[in-house]
Amino acid sequence: MWPDLIQKAKMGGLDVIQTYLFWDGHEPSVGKYYFEGRYDLVQFVKLIHQAGLYVHLRIGPYVCAEWNFGGLPVWLKFLPGIEFRTDNEPFKEAMQKFTTKIVDLMKSENLFASQGGPIILSQIENEYELMEWEIGGPGKAYMEWVSKMAVGLNTGVPWVMCKQENAPDPIINTCNGFYCENFNPNKDYKPKMFTENWTGWFTAFGGPTSYRPVEDLALSVARFIQNNGSFINYYMYHGGTNFGRTSSGLFVATSYDYDAPIDEYGLIREPKWSHLKYLHKAIKQAEPALVSSHPTISWPGKNLEVHVFQSKIACAAFLANYDSKYSSKITFWNKEYSLPPWSISILPDCKTEVFNTAKVLIRYKNTFSFVTSPRIHAQMLPITDKSFSWESYVEQVASIDDPKTFTKEGLWDQVDITWDTSDYLWYMIDVSIQKNEAFLNNGKYPILTIMSTGHILHVFINGKLSGTKYGSLDNQRLMFNNSVHLVAGVNKISLLSVSVGLFTGGSHFERHNTGVLGPVTLNGLNEGTRDLTKWKWSYKLGLKGSALNLHTTIGSSSIEWTQGSYVQPNQPLTWYKTTFNAPAGKDPLAFDMSTMGKGEIWVNGQSIGRHWPGYIANGDCSSCNYATYYEKKCYTNCGQPSQRWYHVPRSWLKSTGNLLVIFEEWGGDPSGIHLVKRRL
Ligand code: GAL
Repeated sequence: MWPDLIQKAKMGGLDVIQTYLFWDGHEPSVGKYYFEGRYDLVQFVKLIHQAGLYVHLRIGPYVCAEWNFGGLPVWLKFLPGIEFRTDNEPFKEAMQKFTTKIVDLMKSENLFASQGGPIILSQIENEYELMEWEIGGPGKAYMEWVSKMAVGLNTGVPWVMCKQENAPDPIINTCNGFYCENFNPNKDYKPKMFTENWTGWFTAFGGPTSYRPVEDLALSVARFIQNNGSFINYYMYHGGTNFGRTSSGLFVATSYDYDAPIDEYGLIREPKWSHLKYLHKAIKQAEPALVSSHPTISWPGKNLEVHVFQSKIACAAFLANYDSKYSSKITFWNKEYSLPPWSISILPDCKTEVFNTAKVLIRYKNTFSFVTSPRIHAQMLPITDKSFSWESYVEQVASIDDPKTFTKEGLWDQVDITWDTSDYLWYMIDVSIQKNEAFLNNGKYPILTIMSTGHILHVFINGKLSGTKYGSLDNQRLMFNNSVHLVAGVNKISLLSVSVGLFTGGSHFERHNTGVLGPVTLNGLNEGTRDLTKWKWSYKLGLKGSALNLHTTIGSSSIEWTQGSYVQPNQPLTWYKTTFNAPAGKDPLAFDMSTMGKGEIWVNGQSIGRHWPGYIANGDCSSCNYATYYEKKCYTNCGQPSQRWYHVPRSWLKSTGNLLVIFEEWGGDPSGIHLVKRRL
């Protein structure tokens, strides 16, 4: 998809592609590097170069980005004595090693602009100032070390730090946000740069879909430029998909569409893409004046502002109306201009209005028109081909007698056991119930109470699902507190704890907990309460189906699958498989998963991500006041699944016989799964 995405960015008037890179993807285990497939960084940078664009490489290597663990590899957490992003030797050593590895790789391919390559900027760290304020001294020491380390790598191009007010020379501090016009770099000889102008926001399972009207986005860009801004990056211009298990806690969805000008599927989003294209054109027309003069600013009326850039060679004006409700008129150089509310007009020659941020002109199906809402969205269209014919395999509920279980005293953090190699960890215990327990006669079953630090918990009693709980966006913790059907004798309690991505940041996020840490108690026995928290627990890592590699062709042919009418819907812990042919045409494809609950999807052995259409978006979609966008008030999709469609890249498909495997935790109806195509 890269060449096409890069071309669309170029056609949209961009000059630079800014990208994060992901340490966990490039160094999956200590010292073992990976730069292939979609982690082929050299190829990506070269493609951008070939297209005639520049690169801003945000190395991080801590990147946040709603990426699992903020991009840090999980093995890092287990280096003895480590503390992340502070004055800590093990962290600094690992960070320096990886940063050097990346810089050396880029140098060896002559990719820095100082070597004739496209990389004109690099970023070190990411929004560190918050952390520095919080931890004080060690944060300051770390900041100084990071800066020297980066500069010492001699890339020959500037380094930036976003949201780092005290970035030491020569590093340039930059701004991230919805608006950055009032931001200034810490020295007046540094350029004023906007590294993240948020085009929308990410979606989380359980949350609605955010959007940012292009009128507001364009205003924020024009306002930044008229206030001497010199570089703006859209975060995201294309956000794509969090394939596999790359999305982070809390509950970040698989789609990272972000309401970006190029949508998750690589299609141009209108009117966003075109409106920004005309904006970029207008700014470039004004460029001779912008770079040869300082603006004169005047205020011809309430909420009105005029910037004039005039030099011997050129003149450009920006006329602004900041009133969020009322339109206004400005007379400038004897000519009257009408300005919609919350808008800026650009006059690249001080005479001709070539662009207004709130007058949205787009080309749709070869006609040009000014649009307000409704907006033109790409649509999901059914492919009437045929529905899938499914086979199924039921994942066994684990018990302490299974092979590959092991015991530990008490309850352990999930990631300490899984190292995040799987979302799934079984916590198991056998509980004996005497024949003389009163509840056996009176039916008042005991209450099992389980406190978990997140994110999902399925409770099985004697092999049967007794209940499911999950955390929310605001609180990943959860509590299970239900009566459970126990019998006289030995009862098998099996808890399947499921993580939905690791935290992206905050101080000491290396110590952030996941999984069942207790207390776990049984209430309502003759003896009163039995506290199981410190008992000896058995553990089993991951799913049996994963150990069997059911998502691959070889693994899936190693077992007997249930077929035809024996395939049961609405069963928890079930694997489904089928094969399908790629539909004709070039339209991007997705699976409509609306009849499913929660799990993961693989196509030809590659994970296209976690699905969770069962999590309904909770939020207020009734108003969208983008003049106060700080409050992120523009939402859609309330009351619908947070994410219904799951992108399967065409480049991952063969023309026939593609293997589709789904693991479903909750229970869903696979007969409702359809391939759909996306089209503008
Ligand atoms: C920024 C951060 C990005 C991303 C963004 C939200 O603060 O630098 O990495 O997390 O927020 O999408």
